[in-house]
Amino acid sequence: MYRARLGKNLEKVTLDYVSSIDDDVEIAHYDILGSQAHAIMLYENKILTKNEIKKILKGLESLKKVKLTKKTDSEDIHELIESLVIKKIGIDVGGKMHTARSRNDQVALDIRMKIRDDINIVCQCLLDTIKALVVLAKKHQDTIVPLYTHLQQAQVGLFSHYLLSYADALFRDLDRLYVTYGRVNENPLGAGPIGGTSIPIDRLSTGKMLGLKGVVENSIDATTTRDSAVEYIAAIAILMTNLSRVSKDFSIWSTSEFSFLELSDEFTSPSSVMPQKKNPDILELTRGKTSHVIGNLTSMLSTIQGLPSGYSRDLQQINPAIWSASKVVISALLIMESMLKTVVINKKNMKRAAEDGHLIALDLAEKLVHNDIPFRKAHQIIGRIVKLAHISGKPISKLSESEVKKVVKNKEVSLKLLMKLIRSTTLTSSLHERKSQGSSGISEQKRMTAHRMKKIEKYQTGVKTRSDAVQYSLNQLDKKVKKLTR
Ligand code: ARG
Repeated sequence: MYRARLGKNLEKVTLDYVSSIDDDVEIAHYDILGSQAHAIMLYENKILTKNEIKKILKGLESLKKVKLTKKTDSEDIHELIESLVIKKIGIDVGGKMHTARSRNDQVALDIRMKIRDDINIVCQCLLDTIKALVVLAKKHQDTIVPLYTHLQQAQVGLFSHYLLSYADALFRDLDRLYVTYGRVNENPLGAGPIGGTSIPIDRLSTGKMLGLKGVVENSIDATTTRDSAVEYIAAIAILMTNLSRVSKDFSIWSTSEFSFLELSDEFTSPSSVMPQKKNPDILELTRGKTSHVIGNLTSMLSTIQGLPSGYSRDLQQINPAIWSASKVVISALLIMESMLKTVVINKKNMKRAAEDGHLIALDLAEKLVHNDIPFRKAHQIIGRIVKLAHISGKPISKLSESEVKKVVKNKEVSLKLLMKLIRSTTLTSSLHERKSQGSSGISEQKRMTAHRMKKIEKYQTGVKTRSDAVQYSLNQLDKKVKKLTR
């Protein structure tokens, strides 16, 4: 449709090469809505007549029901939609719908509308996943687990503490997306190909009809820049790394060596040969798909960094990277949520593992600190006691006074006090006594769980308000379309 200056049509292989039609399916709907809002703005500013707007809107409306497939000579969805409208209502009127815009601002708009919806969906899925974590945490506020650093047992903790650590990370992911939304939800349309237009358009009004807040003002920026799309994918990539790490933990903990938990059958796969197998394939795929999303981010950044100012066709290449990242993260979150709701936690094994590892060592050292022994000295004393326990193959609490006496140097600590502490310190007492903010302490866990639950509700309202606002604007647009096509 655009090739008057060029004469010859594209060869089939070249058309396939340049075409974005397959990827554009994801934005077809937004392109129609954007075109309707743009046309109404042209009409309201007396650039189109009543009869013209009626025909154009009708033409566009009829395309909402059509499956826009690949069998076309058009290079992309923008060309296809315009050509179909022209085919339907003729070039005299249909030929006016592309007044005062370009495919460059058009595609920038479509991407923003698509990401806007995706962010709202991802935020909702995130909230559901966070809720699943917090609900599970509530059930496990007294479930004892070893906490690991370097994959070595470090301190005794509570399983709720672990779960809430990921709830908090996901809250930050949510917050990142929440903020990015504001930068995405702006109108680039009306920027033209790069430098604006002489036609008296009203960019704010087009944006308003589409529920966008304000315009991306500078027309060069509006058509060229994809930083907010990259920001979105960066947030998704970070979020995926969090899901990937939970997946890693859960697949390790589901091994027979750990047996901390059992994944529900629907989140595991069998082996084609070994009948006993229950493999955590789904979690492994979340890990694998995280790499894929990181690849999407990298490919976007490397495409953009090499571009001169103004639209270049390279930009078309980044769109499928956006769509696929959205798809991956939404399913990863849905799966994570259901997995958390169905996983069976083996409290006994978690506790048994914690009992094996002399995990009260630091708690004991801190008790000496409470008794006025400098921490470094306390660390040395308890270090020797742990070594003794390790060699004699007993838990610290079962060491006899005469054994302990051998490793305690004269006067560094009263043997009586030390024995009293050794006898009275247990995993549970340690968790009762741990009080610092954000710790595994039992009281902290209760407070944090309740607090995070409330936090979910607050965000829930925010996300709903946003989705409702978009829906409201689009409903208003629909009403206008209906009125003008009557
Ligand atoms: N399909 C193109 C894309 O996704 C639309 C913009 C084309 N603009 C152009 N000047 N060739 O980026």
